[in-house]
Amino acid sequence: MFTKQTLTAFVGALAMASAKTISASDEYPSAAEIASAQASVLPYSPVSNVKGLAFNRFAQIWIENTDYSTAAADANFAKLAKEGILLTNYFALTHPSEPNYCASAAGDNFGMDNDDFHQLPANISTLADLFDTKKIAWGEYQEDMPYAGYQGYRYPESGSNEYVRKHNPLVLFDSVTNDAVRPRQIKNFTTFYEDLKHESIPQYMFITPNMTNDAHDSDITVAGDFLARFVPPLLKNEYFSKDTLILVTFDETDTYADPNRVYSFLVGGAVPEHLKGTTDDTFYTHYSIIASLSANWGLPSLGRWDCGANLLKLVAEKTGYTNWEVDTDNLYINETYPGPLSDGDYSTYEPLWPVPATSGKCSAGHGIADIVKTTWKGHEATYNYNSPIPYNSNSGTNVGVKYWRTIKGKKVEHST
Ligand SMILES: *[C@@H]1O[C@H](CO)[C@@H](O)[C@H](O)[C@H]1NC(C)=O
Ligand SMILES: *[C@@H]1O[C@H](CO)[C@@H](O)[C@H](O)[C@H]1NC(C)=O
Ligand SMILES: *[C@@H]1O[C@H](CO)[C@@H](O)[C@H](O)[C@H]1NC(C)=O
Ligand SMILES: *[C@@H]1O[C@H](CO)[C@@H](O)[C@H](O)[C@H]1NC(C)=O
Repeated sequence: MFTKQTLTAFVGALAMASAKTISASDEYPSAAEIASAQASVLPYSPVSNVKGLAFNRFAQIWIENTDYSTAAADANFAKLAKEGILLTNYFALTHPSEPNYCASAAGDNFGMDNDDFHQLPANISTLADLFDTKKIAWGEYQEDMPYAGYQGYRYPESGSNEYVRKHNPLVLFDSVTNDAVRPRQIKNFTTFYEDLKHESIPQYMFITPNMTNDAHDSDITVAGDFLARFVPPLLKNEYFSKDTLILVTFDETDTYADPNRVYSFLVGGAVPEHLKGTTDDTFYTHYSIIASLSANWGLPSLGRWDCGANLLKLVAEKTGYTNWEVDTDNLYINETYPGPLSDGDYSTYEPLWPVPATSGKCSAGHGIADIVKTTWKGHEATYNYNSPIPYNSNSGTNVGVKYWRTIKGKKVEHST
């Protein structure tokens, strides 16, 4: 039998053995490699038409590093938000950028507290696995990506910043990039207009403007101008907008000492007429989007922080799910808890990679994805993923926050 100590060492050694060695050509492919891929890799644009409860298509557009009040003061953001529903209680998850993008795809940030070159192991599932259970076509549009599925750290590799890997959620995962087809669904933004022309826009898409248009290397006015050019024509395009929900949000606030509440709104043909120009103060996080996509299309959960996340009200009203109310008075969702992708040394953590839940209904109501259940069978969930707020009792991150809801006249209250 192993003692606890030898087991830890053993698990640590296994993790080291299976950890990928990142080579310079992964991070910075040569000009010849890029040119050859540009000439040979074709973007792939599958289509599908799986009816959802509240929308048939979902697009999220992420802008960068801006405090709520700054975004609210921009005329273009405010004007666009008035055409839909302003979400006044929507939180990003940590700092800096990359862990937020990672979390939007996988339901966790795995301790990431940096913008490094990461490749998450093949046993980490993502939204792509959920969509593939029902053949719901998905894609990403990344402005200034040199070709579909490019895995480099940035492009161009030197000089002014345009495309950056850290703002590309699905490219971070081996479960996506090891596949023959999936990388080709991570496309250059120019392909968006091709897909629009050919009516081959997917049912789910993540859109990342370049480092200027997303306010990262510029400011909110530049991002507002970008949105004012990009979004209104889409709203008028019947093919694109019919039954479509567009979320505009931010990866994180600019001020790290801020609670990390980000300016977010929903527009598009799926927003009912009577809700245009209204606000919704339900507590949401980036994890709420995964949960809402699952609930909308009857998909399972990743069994991570998406499991207990509140659902967009538009979706919750269709499924009859009662969202949690959260006491946000002292809530700061601005720090990463320990984990394997942290700059700290967690090599002796057990388990190194947090284990997802493999049972339970989750807020979306359809249980846990089979691939997650099979992969993590027999391991105990690391966290209480039924909570609408991510927290970690060991490090004390987000601990002591009250959340409650009333079902059939009975109030249930918990605390993280
Ligand atoms: C998942 O992959 C990581 C990295 O390769 C490994 O350390 C861990 O043991 C794996 N866990 C399971 C349950 O497959
Ligand atoms: C990628 O998109 C950018 C604009 O987003 C465009 O300038 C560039 O030509 C595109 N590259 C390819 C290979 O299509
Ligand atoms: C970003 O995209 C815009 C077009 O949308 C383009 O004009 C600009 O050159 C791109 N790159 C940078 C670094 O601004
Ligand atoms: C999070 O916010 C609190 C409260 O403002 C602050 O003390 C803390 O330093 C912030 N954390 C980070 C990582 O900036």
